Order: sequence, then structure tokens, then C-alpha cells
Amino acid sequence: MANTIKNSEQLCNFRDVLSWYEAMGVDATIQEQPLNWLEEAATIDKSWIVFENDQKRSLLTPTQQNTPTVTNNQQTHAPEERRAPPLTHRLAPEQHTAPQTTAPLLQPSIEQAKTIAKSCQTLESLQSALLEFDGCALKRTAKNLVFYRGAQQAPLMVIGEAPGRDEDIVGKPFVGPAGQLLDRMLKAINIESKEAHITNIVYWRPPGNRPPTEQEVAICRPFLDRQIELVNPKTILFLGGTAAKQMYQTPMGITKLRGKWKKIPGDHHQMDTIATLHPAYLLRTPIAKRLAWQDLQLIAKKLES
Ligand code: URA
Repeated sequence: MANTIKNSEQLCNFRDVLSWYEAMGVDATIQEQPLNWLEEAATIDKSWIVFENDQKRSLLTPTQQNTPTVTNNQQTHAPEERRAPPLTHRLAPEQHTAPQTTAPLLQPSIEQAKTIAKSCQTLESLQSALLEFDGCALKRTAKNLVFYRGAQQAPLMVIGEAPGRDEDIVGKPFVGPAGQLLDRMLKAINIESKEAHITNIVYWRPPGNRPPTEQEVAICRPFLDRQIELVNPKTILFLGGTAAKQMYQTPMGITKLRGKWKKIPGDHHQMDTIATLHPAYLLRTPIAKRLAWQDLQLIAKKLES
């Protein structure tokens, strides 16, 4: 690197590139040289996957299923000519000898997620289950599980979209600038954030802060449903269009969805839910705060009643 950076202007450019990488979610180096995963995608060698049972095999294409089962120590190649050389051939020499210790994440079914989540009787056991759960692809790129902050049981549960960079580092939801605004919004209706239960529709940061996909939301949903049952709130507030659309299962936008009470069935009773604008949006669009304020007042009234 020192050979290639010759003056302070280049150093600034280099810093910009690094900041851009970080914003895009590229925050770890994997190997010496960059690899264009888009170009490689068609030929990535999957023969190193260790299958535990036939169900996991069924996740692969028929051609891949014909590839004999392999273990980490035992590379067996199917006669497909377009495959890229095995990953070990592309690593630096000192990396050849390192045994591959991390198994790939294979997506368990939503039914499996439901069974695991239902068996959890406390938030602590739900957290342990999430720490062990390898079914959400977001876990691969995230640093930490982001479960909840605030009270274990609370009259108000707040559900946002997804952890961002700050949340990923700290392992708690809404700890960055949007979280600070959220705390002030709650305070405006006399709720300390530690009295509410604050979480997201997914438990890991999507790379580059993109919105979570439907699949990522769906695999987290059984855990979120169980979390709602355990918290047993009177009222749930969804923050932003992504959370509201996913939770109400509607394509409608947040401007139509916000500020209206909707009941959803709970374990013990029907829960009153409402959506409002996301605090990150409010930071960019302060004029919209008056709409959020109207929604917050509805919540205050509901909680008083
Ligand atoms: N935005 C969210 O939706 N959730 C967080 O935890 C932080 C920012």
C-alpha cells in the first residue's frame, strides 16, 4: 500500500474509497486480492458443502445433488468443466494449510424456525436460540445479533426495519442517530425508552444498510412473533414502510398505512398496532415530524385508556 500512495491527495482518495467500502458493508478483508463475486457467481465451487441430511441436499440444483457428498478434508469433483478452481487453489500459499472450520449457512425452513421459537419460554432462551440459529443469511455478514433494548415486558413495543452500522457494532437496536431521535419521540409522550421494548423485523444488519428481503424477514418472523408473545405489549408501533408493509403483509406505502389502528391477534389478547414514519426518514425530512407527532399522540391516548 505504502508503495502505491505517493501524496496526500492520493491518501485522501484512498480514505474516501475505504469510507465508501464501509458504507457499502465491506468492513472485513477476506483475502489478499479482491475477487469479483458477480463474475464468479456462475462457476463458484460448492462441492465443499458438508451435508448433514437429505433435506439439506434438496436445497441444491439436480446437477449439484449428483455431486458426491464431501467433507472438508475430502474434495471430490464432479465432471463439470465450467467450475472455478476450488477455493483453496486461489488462496495465498500460507492459507492452503488452514483447515476450513466454518460450515456454510444452510437455510432451515420457516417451519423449523417456528418450532425453535415456540419452544422458547423466556426472552433469554429466545436470544440463545437466535445466537445458535444459522438460517438467516444476514448473519453471515453481520458482526452481532441485535435482539432488543428496553424493558422485557412493556405496554409499548416498537418494531423497526433492521439494525444499521451502529447497532451491528453495539448489538442493540436503535443506538445511532435514528435511535436518539426515537428516544426523544417517546419522551415527548412521557415514555422513557427503557420502559418500552424496542426491536426490529430482522435481527442482523443487512449489508450496506439495504432493506431486508422478504426471505430474510420471513425467516426471522417466527422469532419476532414469539418475542411479541413473551413481551405481551398492549400496543405495537411499527417504524417505517418496510416494517409496516411486512407486518401487515400489504404492498401499501407508509403514507397510507401510518396513523391508523389495526388489530393483530396475540397469544393473550388482540394487540393494537399502529405505524408511523421512520425516525431515519424524519432526520432527513424534518417537516414530516408533525405527522409522526400526530401518530405519537394517538399512542399516548391508547396507552392511557
Ligand atoms: N433503524 C432501524 O430500523 N433499526 C435500528 O435498529 C436502527 C436504525
